[in-house]
Amino acid sequence: MEDEYLAEPFRIKMVENLKITDRKYREEAIKKGHYNLFCIDAEDVYIDLLTDSGTSAMSDSQWAGIMMGNQAYAGSRNYKHFEDVLRGIFGYRHILPTHQGRASENLLFSSIVKKGNVVPANSHFDTTRANVESNGGIALNLVIEEAYDTEKILPFKGNMDLEKLKECIKKEGKNIPLILMTVTNNAGGGQPVSMENLKAVSKIARENKIPFFIDACRYAENSYFIKMREKGYENKTPLEIAREMFALADGCTFSAKKDGLVNIGGALAFNDDALLEIVREKLILIEGFTSYGGLACRDLEAVAIGVMEALQEDYLKNRIGQTQYLGDKLKEGGVPMVLPFGGHAIYVDAKKFLPNIPQSQFPAQALGCELYCEAGVRGVEIGTATFGKTENGKAVYPKLELLRLAIPRRAYTNRHMDVVARALINIYKRRDKLKGLKMTYEAKSLRHFTAKYEKL
Ligand SMILES: Cc1ncc(COP(=O)(O)O)c(C=O)c1O
Repeated sequence: MEDEYLAEPFRIKMVENLKITDRKYREEAIKKGHYNLFCIDAEDVYIDLLTDSGTSAMSDSQWAGIMMGNQAYAGSRNYKHFEDVLRGIFGYRHILPTHQGRASENLLFSSIVKKGNVVPANSHFDTTRANVESNGGIALNLVIEEAYDTEKILPFKGNMDLEKLKECIKKEGKNIPLILMTVTNNAGGGQPVSMENLKAVSKIARENKIPFFIDACRYAENSYFIKMREKGYENKTPLEIAREMFALADGCTFSAKKDGLVNIGGALAFNDDALLEIVREKLILIEGFTSYGGLACRDLEAVAIGVMEALQEDYLKNRIGQTQYLGDKLKEGGVPMVLPFGGHAIYVDAKKFLPNIPQSQFPAQALGCELYCEAGVRGVEIGTATFGKTENGKAVYPKLELLRLAIPRRAYTNRHMDVVARALINIYKRRDKLKGLKMTYEAKSLRHFTAKYEKL
């Protein structure tokens, strides 16, 4: 379809009615949730941009596939379909189903990460970091320095800094059990990684005999960015690009809740036969048998169909286009964001939005709460609450302080995006009136999920 005529490449067959609330109601709801957006009822949210994970609208084909579930403890035909389709994309010998991405991370890292090991990545996402650390490892972010400059426009701001990676290998040598590349780079603004960078990392990993894994959550979106932005890939399909990407690595962790277009599901895929021996035992112990991995077999069918839909070019054009649409609207209103816009989300730069609130007072979290009160829109903090920590009694702050607005796939229209933009721009106009937050409770690990705050 010609660009000027391409709107949504689907039409709506079923709707979910939304509860409409007023500001007073929302102020009470957020207070009751201790100013933590994870702790309010989803029903009380009008436009839910907390995550793009597990929130996609499934297609009629996927729902039909669910009805064709062949529920069996072992050897379900849905598993065979899942295995065939994922092997056709990833190309790896072993395809293990899991219930979601973090289960794949747990299986992989608990098998190969030992106490004191260093795991370099462009950027680790929260569960990835937590799974490395819970196995005694050190999760190291080696993304290019420009990734921390939110205004710098670069086509592939998710790239790994190759010099830093070489230095890390020189220093740590055999202490590195694997190198990880997150595509797209969720913790750093949903920015893509170029094929050139993937090739270079793969070469370094192979020269040093270090396994190289891809965190493949948004690999289809990354493939589309490569097609749009990298020379030589204009005429390749997203599927061809994805295959080329995966061929450079030894395996991947995958949360199908993103580019699998499903509400639940994941996979761990790799070539190493010795690793299979270790991982398979754990899979059976903690997730389930190797032909269902913590899922109902019908869910495997929905993944097998969903991953192919997510690789369709018209779908990807619309998907990335909707994120761009929201970003363009916000830009018109002067809202500071991570540029260029990411694939699955817009990341508001809270340090620049609220320069009057120091990081010790959680500016991105405060902005998220205000956006919810303003229009019932829920985003998520990716800043001090998520990645900050206390070391030797001293607070350590992350370089980026962001409010992520992650757009569920095929779920909202651009009129919803207009509301999000209008609400945020209205807050921007009175930004100097906003106040920060004080954290009154924090868990030892992944504190942002359950933290409690008080308004200052
Ligand atoms: C980059 C990245 N890796 C891993 C995960 C974990 O996936 P899951 O939520 O399915 O456990 C996420 C989830 O958002 C993610 O964005």
